[in-house]
Amino acid sequence: MSRKKIVAGNWKMNTTQAESIDLATALNSNAIHQSVMAVLIPPFISIAAVKNCNTNSQIKTGAQNVFFEKNGAYTGEISALMLKNLGVEYVIVGHSERRQYFNETDEIVSKKVDAVLAENMIPIFCCGELLTIRENNLHLSYVQQQIEKSLFHLTASQIQNVVIAYEPVWAIGTGKTASPTQVQEMHKHIRNCVAQKYSSDVANEISILYGGSCKPDNAAELFALPDVDGGLIGGASLIAADFYKIINSFS
Ligand code: PGA
Repeated sequence: MSRKKIVAGNWKMNTTQAESIDLATALNSNAIHQSVMAVLIPPFISIAAVKNCNTNSQIKTGAQNVFFEKNGAYTGEISALMLKNLGVEYVIVGHSERRQYFNETDEIVSKKVDAVLAENMIPIFCCGELLTIRENNLHLSYVQQQIEKSLFHLTASQIQNVVIAYEPVWAIGTGKTASPTQVQEMHKHIRNCVAQKYSSDVANEISILYGGSCKPDNAAELFALPDVDGGLIGGASLIAADFYKIINSFS
């Protein structure tokens, strides 16, 4: 995969199947600039229905989570193969809500990355610091460690198929967006870490998305930053008009 402009909508635990269909249908009725890819990421039970609605070739279907084992006695879990068979192309791994409420460690996230890549899907790997970590000026090294622990076992060709989403935990669902200076600093740092481990060619192929209260009124400023390749959008992705405006926020 080469570096792309991507806007992914993480619907989280929202929308019934009927509401998912309405939202996906509304988004598919609009044209999207040819340089941009949108990803709709509904709850598991609506993936098949949303995939059916995604008739626009620039709108892909994603999943919010996956289990790393291939199959077996894991009640309630969903495998990468099951997602692949539904036509899923992108899978969020390591979202801070999974880390916080479901005790996902860097090691678990690393196994999930492997499971997604093994089925030729693209992991959207989430990283980001808590407010206390930023207040102690440890945010750069903290995010670097998250990336090292969950991604740096990959080969150069594998990591080029990973999308990284930087989501400062203090900005998610809070209405507090990181400033453009904070976002660019972190995105550049992430790209530099990948360049040092692999090469600058590899680092330049990776899409790095920003997430955390990204809205129609701040998306353009964030997407114009040199190391920002798009966004992972929560709340604003549930309103078709808002999500469409964000998709159209690239300069
Ligand atoms: P938010 O969520 O846009 O509602 O802040 C972002 C995310 O959690 O991906």
